[in-house]
Amino acid sequence: MALYSEKVMDYFMNPRNVGVIEDADGVGEVGNAKCGDIMKIYLKIKDDIIDDAKFETFGCGSAIASSSMATEMIKGKPLAHALQLTNKAVAEALEGLPAHKMHCSVLAEEAIKIAVKDYYDKNRIAYDPNQFPDLDHEEH
Ligand code: FES
Repeated sequence: MALYSEKVMDYFMNPRNVGVIEDADGVGEVGNAKCGDIMKIYLKIKDDIIDDAKFETFGCGSAIASSSMATEMIKGKPLAHALQLTNKAVAEALEGLPAHKMHCSVLAEEAIKIAVKDYYDKNRIAYDPNQFPDLDHEEH
């Protein structure tokens, strides 16, 4: 059996939403200390809706596919929806990731949350800090 699904290969070979949003409303960057991979997510937000999402991922194929899929999944959606996106949902949308590659999809979930938090912080929008549990561990 192939290690990677066709979806993973497709999103890795033809990633959607690669790039930078220069005037992003929220930016989230995370890294995985073990593998050294880094992911950055840029969000453009209008009236609580994610108008645009882009990513830069310096990492493995699964991380690239995960960030590509995750940005697709949150575009056009309300912020609350983006905050509920789990790495599991991203992996499922990719038709699965090998067990030892699940952590790559965690980067996508966390980078999106940090980008939304960045938007809230910049605009002094009040939020429940419990919405962003233990994100700090990846930031340092
Ligand atoms: Fe580092 Fe995939 S191996 S994110």
